[in-house]
Amino acid sequence: MRIDIATLFPEMCEQVLSESIIGRARKKGLIDIYCHNIRDYSPDQRHHRVDDSPYGGGKGMVMQPEPIYLCYLDILRQSASVPHVIYLSPQGKVFDEKKALALKETPHLLLLCGHYEGVDERILEKIVDEELSIGDYVLTGGELAALVVTDAVARLCDGVLPDASCFEEESLMNGLLEYPQYTRPELWEDKKVPDVLLSGHHKNIESWRFSQSLSRTQKKRPDLYAAYQKKREKNDEK
Ligand code: ADE
Repeated sequence: MRIDIATLFPEMCEQVLSESIIGRARKKGLIDIYCHNIRDYSPDQRHHRVDDSPYGGGKGMVMQPEPIYLCYLDILRQSASVPHVIYLSPQGKVFDEKKALALKETPHLLLLCGHYEGVDERILEKIVDEELSIGDYVLTGGELAALVVTDAVARLCDGVLPDASCFEEESLMNGLLEYPQYTRPELWEDKKVPDVLLSGHHKNIESWRFSQSLSRTQKKRPDLYAAYQKKREKNDEK
């Protein structure tokens, strides 16, 4: 899979995406990620300007369409595939694990990061396929959102995590939160690891973990719990 990120702050993205699991996956060639500086495509050779004040007046600056479009055309030239273009914005549909799973099936993504008061509407009409938000709050730019989407999608790609069951079992994949985890020592600050986890009885461990998942989802995320129950009721009717 290939992910391109078009941004005014490529170093910020590159730094995060060179570390840890995603950094290793890139080095191994399991996923190709390229960060592009929109400023490099400014037609303004002297000042490399990429923004201007909004028509009709108002505060702040708006990113001009031409540098973004030239960046997009360059990415098209560099790759055999046409990317699915996502603009990160608080106006988009809220990103979740289900969306990450769907995007993982898309061979080529281009994540466009806005800044200032956003981007000229015409570039959205021209190249953007969908808008995504990472939550109902406003960030100073789309970079952190693009990093969140990249991380969540990349970790689902084949070979990126050591074992696919890592994410098949964990939080949210089945609509429930993950059960509590423990490691050595067995006794820490008067707190003991639950006996069942030391029993070696796999069936009992599995059913304990499932009941913990259920109870903590009910307590911490009643919204997810209600959705889970509804889905189960629907399945039981079938
Ligand atoms: N840009 C600014 N705020 C954002 C958000 N919440 N999600 C995605 N992109 C953004």
